[in-house]
Amino acid sequence: MAPKKLYIKTYGCQMNVYDSERMAEAMGGEGYETTERPEDADMILLNTCHIREKAAEKVYSELGRYKGLKSARPDLKIGVAGCVAQAEGEEIMRRQPMVDLVVGPQSYHRLPEMEAKVRGGGKALDTDFPEEDKFDHLKGRPKAKRGPTAFLTVQEGCDKFCAFCVVPYTRGAEVSRPAERVLREARDLVERGVREITLLGQNVNAYHGHAGGLAGLIHALAEVDGLERIRFTTSHPNDMDEALIEAHGTCDKLMPYLHLPVQAGSDKILKRMNRQHTAEQYLRLIERLRAARPDLHLSGDFIVGFPEETEADFQATMDLIEAVEYGSAFSFKYSERPGTPAAERPQVPEDEKDDRLQRLQALLTKQQRSLQDAMVGRDVHVLFEKPGRLPGQMVGKSEYLHAVHVQAEGIAPGDLARIRIESSGPNSLKGVMNPL
Ligand code: 5AD
Ligand code: SF4
Repeated sequence: MAPKKLYIKTYGCQMNVYDSERMAEAMGGEGYETTERPEDADMILLNTCHIREKAAEKVYSELGRYKGLKSARPDLKIGVAGCVAQAEGEEIMRRQPMVDLVVGPQSYHRLPEMEAKVRGGGKALDTDFPEEDKFDHLKGRPKAKRGPTAFLTVQEGCDKFCAFCVVPYTRGAEVSRPAERVLREARDLVERGVREITLLGQNVNAYHGHAGGLAGLIHALAEVDGLERIRFTTSHPNDMDEALIEAHGTCDKLMPYLHLPVQAGSDKILKRMNRQHTAEQYLRLIERLRAARPDLHLSGDFIVGFPEETEADFQATMDLIEAVEYGSAFSFKYSERPGTPAAERPQVPEDEKDDRLQRLQALLTKQQRSLQDAMVGRDVHVLFEKPGRLPGQMVGKSEYLHAVHVQAEGIAPGDLARIRIESSGPNSLKGVMNPL
């Protein structure tokens, strides 16, 4: 029998990218192959994001686009997974009767049974928070070769309840996967060609699946032969403990790049966001991290136009950015999320949010560019990932996560090499092999 085809569209964060890979593997056990073309699919799965309003709305417009396909081929099954599924499962089924299956992020191991149910003509909805480890139950992981970099989810959920954020509601309480399971998965990835692993979690530095916390897990992973690089994302400042700060100085495999969101620079706004730290505490933490690893590149998330943010509050965010100097950053206009405390507060007008976002992004882009330009003339280590667009060109990432293009024969994906940076373009660096 010809294999059935599965089309998965992934929205949102890297944790969804990881989950989509696991869902594809689980469905592989049921005879599905993935396809890049929804027209060819027997099943379409949208792995959704609920973090901002626009992200959720995209799901409904995407579903609308499949109406024609579904009426031409009623056998086509359509499923919604991820955080929108968790938050609005029943509403999705009501609003879009063509949806056959709704599965929340904690129930992916139940997908094969759910698929059998919809194949039989029924509907399936599962948005439970079961006790069992969903990744342990996802069978059928093929031993296929992998690229040089991979994500590995070690922690899910969040107990922080920032006043703007839906994550504690959609992904539930913090849960860590035990270190032995993570190590087993890491060894398996390395056997299949992976050289760099990014540990993922909504609040990854709160990881407690190892007695030594996330630092303990990182040191254990550093013992895995063939694994060259470790990264982790995303972290809350208050969970950055001494051992993890120290690991940035002592663990050679831990890369000098840290995503540490602060969201805002005004203490009034930080308090209303329920972030549980001040701007000064964040700046002191950055100092300690830089003392452990002086060349650390920092990345952050920022929200502008949080309820009751004044121009002076916004200026405090700009001042904090000036003080830190970020190597990269993500910034967003505050988006009202029903059910979160901030949605009830007086809102900042949209044009004000637009204006602040523009000013903030101009500053962040300037910093990003100047840190990137400062790499010219320096040597970096590049893990090569794939061929570039020009013949003979390879592209990889430096330890600071800059994309680096090199024109050289004989480099293969997965190779690590010392590269002298020669020039800096809008989004990437160019360099030459420097074996000395
Ligand atoms: N509005 C705007 N941005 C948000 N984020 C989370 N919730 C919201 C919201 N309601 C941003 C935060 C977080 C990132 C993943 O998304 O900056 O760190
Ligand atoms: Fe959301 Fe991150 Fe705050 Fe948790 S720490 S509530 S995931 S923004």
